[in-house]
Formats: sequence, C-alpha cells, structure tokens
Amino acid sequence: MPIQAAIIGTGFIGPAHLEALRRLGTVDVVAVSERNQELADLKAKELSIPQAYGDYHDLLANPEIQVVHNCTPNHLHFEVNKAIMAAGKHVVSEKPLAMNSTESRELVRLAKESGVVHAIDFNYRYMPLVQQARMMCEKGDVGRILAVHGSYLQDWLHQETDWNWRLVPEMSGDSRAMADIGSHWCDLVQFITGMKIVRVMADLVTIHPVRKRPKVEVETYAGKVLKPEDLEEVEINTEDYGSVLLEFDTGTHGVMTVNQCAAGRKNRLSFEIDGSNCALGWNQETPNELWIGRRDKPNEVMMKDASLMYEEVRDYAHYPGGHNEAYPDGPKNLFRNVYGFLTGDRPGGDFATFEDGHNEIAICDAVLKSSRERSWVDVEY
Ligand SMILES: NC(=O)c1ccc[n+]([C@@H]2O[C@H](COP(=O)([O-])OP(=O)(O)OC[C@H]3O[C@@H](n4cnc5c(N)ncnc54)[C@H](O)[C@@H]3O)[C@@H](O)[C@H]2O)c1
Repeated sequence: MPIQAAIIGTGFIGPAHLEALRRLGTVDVVAVSERNQELADLKAKELSIPQAYGDYHDLLANPEIQVVHNCTPNHLHFEVNKAIMAAGKHVVSEKPLAMNSTESRELVRLAKESGVVHAIDFNYRYMPLVQQARMMCEKGDVGRILAVHGSYLQDWLHQETDWNWRLVPEMSGDSRAMADIGSHWCDLVQFITGMKIVRVMADLVTIHPVRKRPKVEVETYAGKVLKPEDLEEVEINTEDYGSVLLEFDTGTHGVMTVNQCAAGRKNRLSFEIDGSNCALGWNQETPNELWIGRRDKPNEVMMKDASLMYEEVRDYAHYPGGHNEAYPDGPKNLFRNVYGFLTGDRPGGDFATFEDGHNEIAICDAVLKSSRERSWVDVEY
C-alpha cells in the first residue's frame, strides 16, 4: 500500500515535489493545500490531486495522511512545520527551515520530542556526481583539503523592476541571497567535504536599494508589459550580493560569493575543492560533469556514468552514461531516501534533517552579524 502524502503550497517548488514523488512510484500524493479554497481547488484540478484544502489545518486533521511537504514561503515555515509535527505527521520542509535560529532551534527540539521523521530539501546533495565527489573526499582520493571556493549566481533579480516575495523581509527573512541560495552552497560543500563552517567574515551588498514593485499581483502580470504607473518604488534592505570568507573546523579556509543580479547566470551553483592529491570542480548548470584537477598529469572530466562511480553511490544515477540527469533528480533521490527510511527499505536514512536546516540558519545569522560588524564572527550552532 503506497504511503499517503500531502503538499502545502503549490507555487514553483510544490509541483516539483509532486513530480519527484510521482516518479518514485511508492507514494500517493492525496491532498494539497493553498492559501484559500478557490486556489486549492484550482491547483488540485491542474495537478490531478483528489483533495484540496483552503486551510492547511484541515489537511492536517486528515488521519490518512502520513507525510506532509511544506512548500510555503519562508515566513510560514516555522508555524507550518510546527503544526505538521503536532499532528504527528512526518515532515519534509523547504529551506530555509525557519526565519531565524531561535525558531529553527525550537523546530529541532520539537522534531526530536515528537519522534517524527524530519527532512529538509537540500536537494543538490542528491545529484549523482555530488555523491561521487563526497565519496572521493571520504575515501581520501582528494587528500587533505587545502581550500574551498565557489559561488551561487542567478540573474532573476538583475533588474530593479524584478519583483518577488523574497524581497520582503517579513516574508523572506533578514537575509535574502545568503539565506535563499548561499545556504545551499554552504550545505553542499560541508556535506561533500565533511568539514563544518565555524567562522565567517562577510560583506553583503544591496545592489538595488530601491526596486519597483508591480501594484498588481505578480502572477497576474506575468507576460504583461508593465507601464510606469503600474509600479511603485520600494526600499530594499536585504542583500542582492554577498561574499563570505569561511573558516572550517579543520582549519581549512574558503570563500564563496552569492549574487542574484549576475546577468546570464541562471542557477549557477559551483564549487572547487582544492585537495593535496587533486581538486574537484562541479557546476549545477552542467551537473553531469565532474572536473578533476591534477598537478602531475592531465586534468580529467568525469561524465556521469554509474559504472564509473563508486559502488556505494551508484544508485544515485538512474540512467546510463550520456543520458543526462539534472535538477529534478536531486529531490527525487532525497525523497527516495526519506520514504525508504520510513518503509524500512533504505534504513540508512541518508537525508538532510532539521538539524542541517538549523545549521544553515546559524551560519546565516553569523553572516548577517559579521557584515554588520565588519569583523570575523563565530557560528553559534
Ligand atoms: N530547495 C530548492 O531548491 C528550492 C527551490 C525553490 C524554492 N524553494 C523554497 O520553497 C519555498 C516556496 O518557494 P516557491 O518558489 O515555490 O514560492 P512560490 O511563491 O512560487 O510558492 C509558494 C506557494 O505557497 C502558497 N501559500 C502561501 N500561503 C499559504 C498558506 N497559508 N497555506 C498554503 N499555501 C500557501 C502560495 O499561494 C504559493 O502557491 C520557499 O521557502 C523557497 O525557499 C526551495
């Protein structure tokens, strides 16, 4: 009998969760919830889901639903995650786990107390060559890690007229680029290297201190050419750009840059890990290639191919070499591990948890503090 699951929030990422769950084939998504009944009915119809709830509390009262995916905007993560766990249901939350570390610490406490399975969608961990990179670090192929560097670049907020709820601190949090995408980068390099970020020195910049917000709802103006009278000026105080010097618990240092105004870069999460034996380089926009840098012989580019990957992580690749896998496969592999843990089919439990979600918020808090104080700051986990 398939596990019954539900999704709260069906904007961009909710349907991505649905698609990943449907591809697993072992989960029935039986319900969705939206911010009102009309929208819930519309989305349920579009997505072919039998039950639609205009209030997520009513969805949580359904005893058949065992797992709930929280795909709402950031400001609702805390209350929705709390309510899911209070209803005794397992939870897969979107990142960031909450709006600040006080809330995220509380969610970790409640998760432990309630005994439910708790996961967070740090999806990039579960792409085949990321898993291979992790194994190469773990097995000593890379050697001692000398330095880590990289960036996460996007251009969807490049123009001062680009608008989204993520620009509103009450909905998104006091950090934007760092919390939204920098958190993925930090999670990923820590996951791969096994090292923990302990100190940061950050420089955050708001490239557009004033933006022009459409007076009409974003969804309704999509595709429409806006006139100046359709726009109003809004002061922005969260970062478009940030660079952060990092110190890891091993003493290794690193640096990363995030920028949501980098023209031409759509979702370019990239890193290089410089080791004493070799270096590794990977970029989310070309995820089927892992660059291996060598000092004493020619560099290599490993194409994703299960037969060339370490046996322990081979099953993160589902198609033969040359048959590319990409963004939708990360959540699919993550959810396979979560649901496999629930059923006992994959007892290893290799998935990012609320603790990982809290750790990223703690780093974010330290980044904000460091940028304000213009000094190095310890991460308080
Ligand atoms: N892991 C990733 O790679 C990734 C990618 C994109 C977004 N996200 C995260 O997913 C979350 C949602 O982002 P998005 O881009 O899908 O945003 P979105 O605005 O496209 O979707 C959010 C949805 O939540 C709905 N919603 C709002 N209030 C609600 C309520 N009270 N009850 C039920 N539904 C409600 C909205 O109507 C909307 O449909 C964010 O926290 C974001 O950080 C993660």
